[in-house]
Amino acid sequence: MTYRQWLLRERPTDALESRHLELVANSLPTALKPGEILLKALYLHFAPTIRNWMNERTAEEQENMLFPYIAIGAPVMGPCISQVVRSENPTYPVGTILFSMSGWQEYSLLNPEADGHPVAVIDPAINPALALSALGPNGLAAWFGLAKVIDPKPGEILVVSGAAGSTGSVAAQIGKIKGCRVIGIAGGKAKCDWLRDELGIDEAIDYKSQSVEAELRRLAPNGVDAFFDNVGGDTLSAVVENMAVHGRIALCGQIATYNEDGRTRAPLNVMKLVYWRVKIQGFIMSDWWDEMPGAIAELAGWIAEGKVKHREDIRTGFETVPQVFAELFAGTNEGTLLMKLADPD
Ligand SMILES: NC(=O)c1ccc[n+]([C@@H]2O[C@H](COP(=O)([O-])OP(=O)(O)OC[C@H]3O[C@@H](n4cnc5c(N)ncnc54)[C@H](OP(=O)(O)O)[C@@H]3O)[C@@H](O)[C@H]2O)c1
Repeated sequence: MTYRQWLLRERPTDALESRHLELVANSLPTALKPGEILLKALYLHFAPTIRNWMNERTAEEQENMLFPYIAIGAPVMGPCISQVVRSENPTYPVGTILFSMSGWQEYSLLNPEADGHPVAVIDPAINPALALSALGPNGLAAWFGLAKVIDPKPGEILVVSGAAGSTGSVAAQIGKIKGCRVIGIAGGKAKCDWLRDELGIDEAIDYKSQSVEAELRRLAPNGVDAFFDNVGGDTLSAVVENMAVHGRIALCGQIATYNEDGRTRAPLNVMKLVYWRVKIQGFIMSDWWDEMPGAIAELAGWIAEGKVKHREDIRTGFETVPQVFAELFAGTNEGTLLMKLADPD
């Protein structure tokens, strides 16, 4: 039996295109070694940062990154939910639903203990799509970025960029739960209307038709207390200009610059950060791996109570993977961008 996988053939220097990849067919292994499991992919999650993992890295950069870069000729790695279909590992028997970084392939062979890539067993009662969205890496990034970096206080002004996206929409809603006045930044009227009308976010700025800097000056004349940034670039520059004294900035992601060389640059008014004593901190949600069960339980409770709404944008058609990934950068995804490949057995 054969399965398909997308291999990285050439490092993109701008947006990822089909020519950088190759769709190949492979044979499933005939026998597994001790410790190995064979996974059938159920859902792929198109995380924007996969584009960063395609850049060339120095040895020092690799050492400090959570994941090594994707080697030329290797399958594109990325988060997914899979089911164990063959197992030589008693910890992960056949039928187990797993989160892994197996990426853009229909089947993958893993030795979880030896490979060093994170895996997590998923409760079969949880919808796999939800386990990759509001209860997965993005919802957890929102939860940890707010709890560990921003620590929002009631009455504070919280700005979220990429606010209508998977991570940003959860961050904005947690801000409301914590009693903040939340200003979301998103591209286009439809996304801004959704933030205000469906999620109850106080204000929304359409960065495609409005000046973020001027709008923030109008909406937050005394300054922005906290900023959860998914975008970077000009958006980060504009928010820095509007920060309040002792403001906090959580750098979750910088999608506006991922199609460059991976060495993100944003022109910042750094003396503003100095004089205003602004704290600015990057974070990776997996820094708090041990605390994830508690965070997931709280997020699940908020979802059940209707305090956190989420939407998944689920695609099909494995052969369209490069085109679907590009939608993250065009902003045409409506919620967590996933691809469904199979149902669990
Ligand atoms: N630190 C962590 O642990 C962690 C974990 C998960 C995700 N992240 C980060 O969170 C961010 C959002 O990821 P996601 O998976 O939730 O994706 P998403 O927000 O659901 O989708 C990406 C969105 O980014 C916006 N965008 C794309 N290019 C842009 C540009 N040049 N300028 C402004 N906005 C742009 C688009 O929305 P508009 O239509 O509004 O432009 C697009 O819909 C990414 O930066 C990602 O790397 C970080």
